[in-house]
Amino acid sequence: MANSASTTATHGGEPTRRDFLFIATATVATVGAVATLVPLIDQMNPDASTLAAGGPVDVDVSKIGEGSQIVVRWRERPIWIYHRSKQTLDMLQNTKDTSLLSDPDSKAMQQPPYAQNWHRSVKPEYGVLVGICTHLGCIPLFFPNPSATTPVANWIGGYFCPCHGSKYDAAGRVYSGVPAPYNLPVPPYHFLNDTTIRIGEDPPNNAWNFDSILQL
Ligand code: FES
Repeated sequence: MANSASTTATHGGEPTRRDFLFIATATVATVGAVATLVPLIDQMNPDASTLAAGGPVDVDVSKIGEGSQIVVRWRERPIWIYHRSKQTLDMLQNTKDTSLLSDPDSKAMQQPPYAQNWHRSVKPEYGVLVGICTHLGCIPLFFPNPSATTPVANWIGGYFCPCHGSKYDAAGRVYSGVPAPYNLPVPPYHFLNDTTIRIGEDPPNNAWNFDSILQL
């Protein structure tokens, strides 16, 4: 809390998005340690020199069970890889649900062109997202199967940001009427083979500038 207070005071007003990311990272790290909702699989972690350089990270997705999600780190950001079930994919296409979204067709450039589709990914069954809320930078929580009332009523599930209540679906598309203005970012990535994703590198002949994204 001491860090939070001093950071805010430096700017003499409301916390900026950068401040909030700093504050929220520490806060959510504690939540994650308790809940262990998102296991890190050791062999999926790149070596320290790769992380330090911000280079590509290869992930074996064959170990992710259907309905489960893992988190890897790329460029010091959490990257979620979600193995979505057929039921979840059906929900992503249900117009009753998509009518509640702010940008259902992903018109805002929060993803590379090769992920500008209804599933916002290269392969429908694997969602790959930067896990940082587009409001003020909290790390949303993963709710693949919410109850009728938890964490909020009448929501099909996906990602919920506890900081100010923003909701995203299982493709990271933000709901209308919440504080977050944009869909969750999609990082550059491609499949090296059927079971290996390389995060941080576009598919061949698909050069895209990750820094052109609207809101990280
Ligand atoms: S940081 Fe405000 S809703 Fe996520």
